[in-house]
Amino acid sequence: MKTEIKNVTPESLREAKNFINAGEVVAIPTETVYGLGGNAFNDEAVKKIFTVKGRPNDNPLIAHVHSGYDLSKIIDYDPPYAKKLRDAFLPGPLTLVYPSTGKVSPFVSCGLNTLAVRIPSHDGAQAFLRAVDIPIVAPSANLSKHVSPTSAEHVYEDFQGKIPLILDGGTCVGGIESTVCDVTGEIPVILRPGLITKEMIAEVVGACEEYTPDFQSGERVKSPGVLYKHYAPRCETALFAAGAWTDALEKAKAAAKEKRVAILCESELVGTFQVLGVTVLDLGRTATEMANRLYGALREAEGLCELLIAIEPKARGGVMTGVLNRLQKACISTDIPHGKR
Ligand code: TXA
Ligand code: MG
Repeated sequence: MKTEIKNVTPESLREAKNFINAGEVVAIPTETVYGLGGNAFNDEAVKKIFTVKGRPNDNPLIAHVHSGYDLSKIIDYDPPYAKKLRDAFLPGPLTLVYPSTGKVSPFVSCGLNTLAVRIPSHDGAQAFLRAVDIPIVAPSANLSKHVSPTSAEHVYEDFQGKIPLILDGGTCVGGIESTVCDVTGEIPVILRPGLITKEMIAEVVGACEEYTPDFQSGERVKSPGVLYKHYAPRCETALFAAGAWTDALEKAKAAAKEKRVAILCESELVGTFQVLGVTVLDLGRTATEMANRLYGALREAEGLCELLIAIEPKARGGVMTGVLNRLQKACISTDIPHGKR
């Protein structure tokens, strides 16, 4: 199959819609990362997404709709605080998890009794979602476990020959995936941190919790995505705490004698590592800058080095929670075996 990359135009949108109606999957831009989209009502299209990505079949998908879409077509329970969150943050990088009404394909939620819904703000995503006017399930458009894509070229690297069309909406400004927030209970609970932070949500609705899975308890994990290795570049990685940058320096010096080494650190440390003569990837100064650059830097590292040494930025809280979550998963996470779930 030939994979075409096309700018978002009336013609490419028509083509994308035809593919979607034929049960195909197409890649679409969003303000966070690129997504691999398919018709949420079509079992075969949803199954195709899992196959093409190599995604574990217990990791549910997010349904994407345009901002004018009538949500009562897919959800019914909608607590007043969820409306407040939609009014404050949507369209934008916040996914809300509602009780499921069973309207979309059962393969979307993988047996959970909830449905995650997202209204992206990216103009190209909105144009595409308006053109198809149905919920589109779209995981990040990367092969399972690989670094999420923030450009059409990243998508092409992973899916060349496997999907017919990539709608090119430029480089994603957000850079890390949407905040996933459960709104089925009394107060919102963040299942995956992102650009809409716990602090921002609490300010609008008065309270917000963060979910931490308890793997020992035997309870079914609320958001299975937290179980899996994620965002990993195809090179060896080593992650150092912010305070341990001198250890990172020693490790880099020693390793550089045997292999190609690259460093990933915040701007403040770039000069310190540059003296080693190895490649230094600058993550940026602010948390939003770091979110924007992280995945691009991880993909760049793959082509540059055999060992990537990453040093955690110093800042904590806010958007940094999401950045650290992705950096740690990219560098040190492993799949959690079934027995521990
Ligand atoms: O920014 C984003 O959310 C991107 C773009 C393409 O929109 N999409 C994305 O999808 O990151 P994906 O599939 O890579 O991650 C979806 C996350 C997973 O951690 C999954 O477990 C969780 O959302 N999720 C999906 N449906 C859920 C549900 N019903 N309950 C709890 N978690 C859910
Ligand atoms: Mg993903």
